Amino acid sequence: IQMSRAFKYVILGGGVAAGYAALEFVRRRGDATAGELCIISEEAVAPYERPALSKGYLLPEGGARLPAFHTCAGANDQLLTEDWYKEHGIELMLGTKVVSADVRRKTLLTSSGEVISYTTLIVATGARVLKLEEFGGSGSDAENVCYLRNIVDADKLVRVMRSCPGGNAIVIGGGYIGMECAAALVANKIKVTIVFPGKHCMGRLFTPKLAEFYENYYTSKGVTFIKGTAVSSLEISSGKVTTAILRDGRRLPADMVVVGIGARANTALFEGQLAMDKGGIKVNGQMQASDASVYAVGDVAAFPVKLFAGEPRRFEHVDCARRTARHAVAAALGAVGDIDYLPFFYSRVFALSWRFYGDNAGEAVHFGDMDSAAASSTPKFGAFWVIAGRVAGAFLEGGSPEEYEAIAHAVRRRAAVPDVAQLAREGLAFVLRE
Ligand code: FDA
Ligand code: NAD
Repeated sequence: IQMSRAFKYVILGGGVAAGYAALEFVRRRGDATAGELCIISEEAVAPYERPALSKGYLLPEGGARLPAFHTCAGANDQLLTEDWYKEHGIELMLGTKVVSADVRRKTLLTSSGEVISYTTLIVATGARVLKLEEFGGSGSDAENVCYLRNIVDADKLVRVMRSCPGGNAIVIGGGYIGMECAAALVANKIKVTIVFPGKHCMGRLFTPKLAEFYENYYTSKGVTFIKGTAVSSLEISSGKVTTAILRDGRRLPADMVVVGIGARANTALFEGQLAMDKGGIKVNGQMQASDASVYAVGDVAAFPVKLFAGEPRRFEHVDCARRTARHAVAAALGAVGDIDYLPFFYSRVFALSWRFYGDNAGEAVHFGDMDSAAASSTPKFGAFWVIAGRVAGAFLEGGSPEEYEAIAHAVRRRAAVPDVAQLAREGLAFVLRE
């Protein structure tokens, strides 16, 4: 006989979006939330700020540890420990995987064989890492091969890193994970070689010129870049990788490997049941899926972005998870307007820190002195992207809060650019004047 329970609201997934959604429920419903809301998470711990895993968590000393970075610490808001959920009567089902969903019947089946039914479902299943095996490679199960998505992965990474002080790490992938982990490995006194098939790092966002600055900076910290090729295989001995072999036959000694070759949204439970778009669940401006009792938020949601003429987009970034989660809860509890989202990404590595707003489409106009910036301990430079005479996107390294606010504002109001050469000359002054 199957156990079965019913909740008015169920959040499927226990990551960033789930934590922010829970706080929004309590803010809006107060004590009425008790007994109404259930969160089902495959992870063993309450929702936490995932970005900490590739930054504070990997520090050589005094690294960030739970409970310090449960949500919503990242927004300088309330820290939601397991006790918080208890105190508010929210059912937090940890270590529980949902293995199937029936949208028509409004039920979820868990790995423990329990059927959970809902009136309203918020899908917050996030994304999963892509594995080497999905590109024809192998070796993911080796003792010293690390991925990074959750706290279990982060613990393995820390353990492996500490097991080979002064050793060689091969980082596969030059995206967010590759770049952030490489910086952390250097801080832990590990020698790093980054290998990726593209022409430059952070290919989805950076221009070649922006990438050049960061690659030079990393190189000055002792990191080696091998670009335009891939690791074709990993040589394994007694369960551990010893050598990474490149497509061109080169052999690189490896004490450990970190893989960051992209992510895929966790949509499988809903394929064939909900409309999909951009690799995620298609939702409207209320974050509502093609079935009106289902909402989707965070990495898994493709939603219309007003700033881009209502074009559907999916973002794999924490600010989006926080805001779409709050918006979905507001929408599920009553009428709100359609979401009006300003895309925002950021990263911090070494002593560097950048922010990006909007869309990196159109003509890129760089500003600041990026050559001398490499020599400066507090570099400040960036780029605007211009479409049809208006600012569509903006990137800034080393800005002050006021400067970040100014570039965000320029993107939000799509500031007119009568003369691109003037924008390049003036740089930040162009937007600070407004
Ligand atoms: P998230 O992945 O946080 O949560 C999904 C949850 O659903 C997980 O708990 C998962 O276990 C659970 N789940 C999935 N399927 C399930 C099932 N079938 N049953 C039960 N549970 C299930 N962004 C940024 O803007 N700046 C940054 O610096 C960083 N840094 C960063 C570092 C690292 C290491 C990672 C991996 C990611 C980032 N990000 C980031 C991206 C950011 O963390 C990401 O966009 C958000 O975590 C997305 O939040 P979600 O809640 O959508 O997914
Ligand atoms: P990514 O898409 O940023 O980068 C993937 C990298 O892997 C690229 O450099 C790409 O060229 C390379 N690559 C692709 N296929 C490859 C292959 N077969 N062999 C070698 N290299 C290959 O993805 P990621 O860095 O893995 O990040 C995973 C997720 O975590 C993303 O959703 C990302 O947004 C998120 N994240 C975000 C941040 C942040 O916003 N600061 C930080 C960490 C992680």
